[in-house]
Amino acid sequence: MKSRPKVAVVGLGIGRGHAAAAAKNPKADLTALCDTDKQRLAANCKEFGVKEAYTDYKKMLRQAKPDIVVVALPNVLHAPVTVAAINAGAHVLCEKPMAMNTQQAQKMADTARAKKKKLMIDFSYRFMPEAQALKNIVDTGAVGDIYYARTTWHRTRGIPWFGPWFSQKDKSGGGPLIDLGVHRIDLAMWLMGNPKPVTASGSTYDMLGKELAKKANKKFDVEDLALAMVRFDNGATMLVDISWAINCERSEEMASYLYGTKAGICHRNVGEGYKFEAYIFGEWDGTYVTSKIKNLPPAMNPVDHFIDVVTEGTKPIATTQHGVDVMKVLDGIYKSARLGKEIRI
Ligand SMILES: NC(=O)c1ccc[n+]([C@@H]2O[C@H](COP(=O)([O-])OP(=O)(O)OC[C@H]3O[C@@H](n4cnc5c(N)ncnc54)[C@H](O)[C@@H]3O)[C@@H](O)[C@H]2O)c1
Repeated sequence: MKSRPKVAVVGLGIGRGHAAAAAKNPKADLTALCDTDKQRLAANCKEFGVKEAYTDYKKMLRQAKPDIVVVALPNVLHAPVTVAAINAGAHVLCEKPMAMNTQQAQKMADTARAKKKKLMIDFSYRFMPEAQALKNIVDTGAVGDIYYARTTWHRTRGIPWFGPWFSQKDKSGGGPLIDLGVHRIDLAMWLMGNPKPVTASGSTYDMLGKELAKKANKKFDVEDLALAMVRFDNGATMLVDISWAINCERSEEMASYLYGTKAGICHRNVGEGYKFEAYIFGEWDGTYVTSKIKNLPPAMNPVDHFIDVVTEGTKPIATTQHGVDVMKVLDGIYKSARLGKEIRI
């Protein structure tokens, strides 16, 4: 694309940050914003100096004619809005999870391919300096073949009531697995080199969430804990455990451990918050070493990266197929938990 792309953001919760990035990006113009919440819409338009405000995304696509649409809506709207935006001629950066299920994700991918448009899922954890550093190390071959991954996100009490839809299955597609697990599963699979998932064996529980929802006067019909074992076509195995509510030690624990033939690596949060660190461990010259990675690349922003993908043909950090494969894992775990047996993905 030669001229400066017009960017539109739909959904201004987390989308506010995407609007801020697009407004600052020197290679693109943030020209339109859309949200059904008129107050939120007006506040964002004022903050970012955007003149075109819409409460209806279809009207926005028709009138604003954006080149890039950032979809930051409740999960149930990811597929319909993405497909509509691509059909209207836009490239799309869509928030995670890609969709509610694999069928929808595949439709999004097929539409992008048919219309020759870029479609990237915001797997934002890949963009962190610590994750980028680990990926660079893996790509040198220093970790060897990764044959085992253990990926976790536990919250003692962390059901996101701020978005009223998160705990409603018809709007979210599921609970912590599709909300938080998607990040940790994607990060692990990416560091493993994106092998193809072949089977899943999962369990889900809702032992605490329902009671917490009753007290908070909220609807809750999803899991509060998901556990799984996923096998890949290269023989590797991934263990997954993810919760919004569990009686565990730390209020927020995120960690992905990848075990390779030459070394192990880890990406995890520090303390209880969103500060991260990366480690490599293994035996070198007869000494077993655990080493914190200090040489970190600068942080990247997914919106800036996607603008480069569209304007400069930069290779996307996350391909559309990665989005579909992660969706297959999420679907597989839910299906296995429902049926009570291991299933083929
Ligand atoms: N990548 C990340 O780290 C990350 C972080 C948070 C959220 N997310 C994802 O981003 C998406 C949005 O999450 P959120 O936390 O911002 O939710 P939210 O509920 O806070 O915000 C969603 C916004 O969409 C608006 N909206 C709803 N229906 C609409 C419609 N039909 N047309 C236009 N606007 C509409 C709502 O008014 C609201 O402002 C979710 O898919 C979530 O999983 C990703």
